[in-house]
Amino acid sequence: MFWADWIREHAATAVSYLQFASIHFQDVKARSYQALELKPGAVVLDLGCGVGHDARELMRLVGARGRVVGADYSQEIIAEARRETKDGSSLPKFVVSEAQHLGFSSNTFDASRADRVLQHLADPRAAFAEMVRVTKLGGTVQIVDRDWGMVAVDADDQAVTRKILDHRCAKIRNGWIGRRVPVLFQDSGLQEVRVEALPITVRDFRVADILLDLTLVAGDAADEGIVSSDEKSAWLLELQERSDAGRFFAAWVMFIVTGKKGE
Ligand SMILES: C[S@@+](CC[C@H](N)C(=O)[O-])C[C@H]1O[C@@H](n2cnc3c(N)ncnc32)[C@H](O)[C@@H]1O
Repeated sequence: MFWADWIREHAATAVSYLQFASIHFQDVKARSYQALELKPGAVVLDLGCGVGHDARELMRLVGARGRVVGADYSQEIIAEARRETKDGSSLPKFVVSEAQHLGFSSNTFDASRADRVLQHLADPRAAFAEMVRVTKLGGTVQIVDRDWGMVAVDADDQAVTRKILDHRCAKIRNGWIGRRVPVLFQDSGLQEVRVEALPITVRDFRVADILLDLTLVAGDAADEGIVSSDEKSAWLLELQERSDAGRFFAAWVMFIVTGKKGE
C-alpha cells in the first residue's frame, strides 16, 4: 500500500503529522512564499492544503483585499483546516477538491501552489495541468516537493540502510518527483522557471522517525523479506543509540520550483 492511501484511512494520524511537519519545514515554506512574490490583493490556490498552515500564512501576505483558497481531497482534513482557522478578519476558504479535476474556472488565480502533494498523486502531470489551467495568464505556479531517492541516513550498515531507504522511496507513488518537477514545468511551457534546492537536516532520531517513517518502513521491509528481522532491529537500535549519543544524522533535499504561465 502506498503511504498516501494508508494515511487517507488514518486521518487523525495525518492531522498530527501535518502539524508536526509544518514546524520542521517552516524555513522551506517561508522561502516558497517569498518566491511567489505575491502582491496585496492577490488570489491564491494552495492545492493539497492539508490542515491549512500555508493558506493562513498566505492570507497574511495577500491582505484583506486578497483571497486564498485551500483545496484538499480529504473531507476530514478540510474539516480540521476549518477548525484551526478561527481567528482573524480575513480568512482563507477551504474546499474539498480532487487535484486532477479542480472545480475552478480557468484563469482564476494569480498564483497556484502545491506543497508535498504531487509525490502522492496517481497522475501528477494531470494535476499540474489543472494547476496551470486555473492560474491566470502571467500568474505564478509553484511546486514544493521532496525527492525520496535523495534521503541520507548515517548508519554502519550501508547495504541495509540503502535497502530500507529504497523501500521508503518505493512506498511513495512518485518517490522521484523532486528531480522530475523542473522538466514538468518545462514540458508545460512555463516561463522564468526557477529551481531551488533547500536542505533539511535532522539530528534527532525521533524527529526523523516522524518525518521519514523509519520504524514503520523498516518493519515493512522486514515483513516483505527485503531485510531480515534481525537486520531491521539492529538498524533501528543503532539509530536510537546514535541519537542518544548525539551522533544521529539524516538529511534530504526539498525542491521549490516556481514559474510563470505565459501571457
Ligand atoms: C504531505 S500532505 C501536505 C499538506 C500541505 N500542503 C502541507 O504542506 O502541510 C499532502 C496533502 O495532499 C492531499 N492530497 C493527496 N492526494 C490528493 C488529491 N488527489 N487531490 C487533492 N489533495 C490530495 C492530502 O490529503 C494531504 O493533505
